[in-house]
Amino acid sequence: MESTVSAAGLVVRRFSHRDLPQIRQALIDVHADAYGDAMDDEFNQRFPWFVDHWGGHPEFACVIAYDGDEPVAFAYGAPANPDREWWREHLEPAPEKDRTFSFSELAVRTTWRKTGTAERVSRALLADRDEDLVVLLVDREHPRVQALYESWGFRKVGDRRPFPDSPVYAVMLAGLPLAA
Ligand SMILES: CC(C)(COP(=O)(O)OP(=O)(O)OC[C@H]1O[C@@H](n2cnc3c(N)ncnc32)[C@H](O)[C@@H]1OP(=O)(O)O)[C@@H](O)C(=O)NCCC(=O)NCCS
Repeated sequence: MESTVSAAGLVVRRFSHRDLPQIRQALIDVHADAYGDAMDDEFNQRFPWFVDHWGGHPEFACVIAYDGDEPVAFAYGAPANPDREWWREHLEPAPEKDRTFSFSELAVRTTWRKTGTAERVSRALLADRDEDLVVLLVDREHPRVQALYESWGFRKVGDRRPFPDSPVYAVMLAGLPLAA
């Protein structure tokens, strides 16, 4: 089926820690739509806790794409704690330049899939970062999503299960700025 929506018409807005009360529900709504059936999973139901955790970081950075007033996609993260980066235990020696941005979450409403929106919000989030590296976690059971990140220049450096009830994730790393 032809896509009837286009990423070109979306407006991308940037938000920070102090905007959290204003954007919190939009993030929860887009996440619930994007994860669809997977919302039966108790780990996914804890998303509001994660929003508050990440949004509580003083350097929280978030990008939301809007179709008019409707939020359709978001990407967010925050600088990693030095020496506790998700890649740290997997790379020996560590990269010389190691200041890292943790790209925590990306979600696109189902009706906006395959429109370039995921790449648009991700690149918008990462475009003005001054860290050397960006790291993210992707469920190992979602190889197509992993392939998407690889197409943007990420490579897998290891596996990680951050919580006992979370999936096992592939740890994916890229240099900043991302290659075009
Ligand atoms: C990941 C995402 C942002 C990518 O959006 P997109 O660029 O429009 O690309 P698609 O939705 O076509 O996804 C790319 C591929 O990953 C697959 N995929 C996407 N989300 C998936 C999920 N949660 N589980 C399993 N596979 C998934 C798609 O089926 C697609 O496979 P295909 O290339 O064989 O058709 C979007 O699919 C999404 O919001 N997914 C749910 C949330 C999620 O998984 N976020 C990533 C966390 S690391």
